Amino acid sequence: MQANTVNKENIEIMVMRFYQKVLQDDTVGPFFIAKLGRNMDNEAWRVHLKLLADFWASIALGDAAYRGNPFAPHMYLGELKRETFEQWLKLFYATLDEVFIPRIADQFKERSSIIAGNFMRNLGIR
Ligand code: HEM
Repeated sequence: MQANTVNKENIEIMVMRFYQKVLQDDTVGPFFIAKLGRNMDNEAWRVHLKLLADFWASIALGDAAYRGNPFAPHMYLGELKRETFEQWLKLFYATLDEVFIPRIADQFKERSSIIAGNFMRNLGIR
């Protein structure tokens, strides 16, 4: 069932489902496997999943737990291209459509595409 409200619990579900798709994906998956490994139960993944749930909760709920610099790690991941970002967004949108009703999914889509655009601009990707 699609959630009709945003809370920390359904953000955690959204993040988990997104990375399940990412790990299956030949375009985006390798960047995460290189950094965090293949097993979402390991410590590096646990840290990442919590970080990303906090990140989206800071955006959607004003939650104060995330205190990072979201862009910084993307400078050192190897060659990210426009197609990498497009595929990332495609997987993220598909996840949002599964987890949230359209009105909420659309809000996350808008935020994520703005951030992806900023990341691409910072990386000099056209
Ligand atoms: C080309 C697409 C992308 C790839 C391959 C990618 C990959 C990664 C990887 C591998 C990490 C972990 C880095 C580490 O632990 O050292 C990471 C961190 C992160 N990513 Fe991405 N990412 C992409 C796009 C995005 C987008 C569009 C967003 C936001 C809308 C985002 C948000 C974040 C955040 C918040 C972190 C954690 C930053 C921190 O350490 O505080 N990423 N990303």
